[in-house]
Amino acid sequence: MQLGVRLKQVLHLNMSKKRVLSGIQTTGSLHLGNYLGAIRNWVEIQQDYDNFFFFADLHAITVPHDAKVLADNTLKMAAVYLASGIDLSCSTIFVQSHVPAHSELAWLLNCITPLNWLERMIQFKEKAVKQGENVSVGLLDYPVLMAADILLYDADKVPVGEDQKQHLELTRDIAGRINDKFGKKKQSVLRVPEPMIRKEGARVMSLSDGTKKMSKSDPSDLSRIELLDSPETIKRKIKKCKTDPVKGLTFDDPERPECHNLLTLYQILSNQTKEGVAVECQDMGWGQFKPLLTEATVEALKPIQDKYHELMNNQEYLDSVLREGASQASSVANQTLARVKDALGFLPPL
Ligand code: TYM
Repeated sequence: MQLGVRLKQVLHLNMSKKRVLSGIQTTGSLHLGNYLGAIRNWVEIQQDYDNFFFFADLHAITVPHDAKVLADNTLKMAAVYLASGIDLSCSTIFVQSHVPAHSELAWLLNCITPLNWLERMIQFKEKAVKQGENVSVGLLDYPVLMAADILLYDADKVPVGEDQKQHLELTRDIAGRINDKFGKKKQSVLRVPEPMIRKEGARVMSLSDGTKKMSKSDPSDLSRIELLDSPETIKRKIKKCKTDPVKGLTFDDPERPECHNLLTLYQILSNQTKEGVAVECQDMGWGQFKPLLTEATVEALKPIQDKYHELMNNQEYLDSVLREGASQASSVANQTLARVKDALGFLPPL
């Protein structure tokens, strides 16, 4: 990999491409929702952009976490990004906590973000209910840190699943507020990013309930397929997943959310068109469909799993990628942080 070439790109010598940034929390292992809603899309678009993809370990501690597995989860996720096809000649991958500018900008943004903007966040309300009285300030503040992640890199586009849309809107509002208050002579301080949400796969639903999103925090393992699940586990989960008693499988029937979700998974994982799958499955029952979905899932995940295990056996390489990533990311992030501090009127380091 041409690390030197990438460093020149991130130092703005490659101005022709727009910037993309996205990340995933390092909580537990990744599931099909993370893959189809995020990583797969990053891989597909990466050649057309200048990309920063990171591991949101600071976000992972906004709910109670296990200190013994945090570092391991981060490293495993790095192997998953690379195994899924992230290309280091156009993309930088890095660990959020390795770039202190994230926490520092988050503080600056905290001080200009009205509290009631955060209290409106749906994800906070949902997660806070689960935490009861132990809900942390960090969980409320989570979207401000996310705004800092994005704004530090002057990102033009942020490819995410549907559930992050509200956080993206907040990021835009925060950037707008900084620009209004502190921009000089019509010169904005921060670039206002745009969400990039692809229709298919933007909301992968739970295998146990087609009306709920597939999620890392669902207590039931059977509700999600993880990227590193073995073929036997995938087979068992699909066998047990919720279906309905109707014969003939169709998309878009509001009465059949599981049917829509499973057909969509099959369509994406087997690389087919919606129309093709609709015709193929219109007369099928679940007994016929489930083995097809199992096979498509196992086949789609196999190359990622093989590459993942290869990478996990090469710790030195992973370390070097993350070291280089932190240095590339810091060089961009520190420039933006200095720009914001200057606009806010801080005395520069003497
Ligand atoms: P996280 O870790 O919950 O999810 C990571 C990505 O996966 C997508 N996703 C889904 N897509 C489709 N169907 C699902 N069931 C599903 N579940 C998750 C999410 O939309 C996301 O794209 N706050 C973020 C992480 C983050 C971030 C950022 C993202 C921190 N800073 C800056 C973008 C830019 C989060 O918790 O995602």
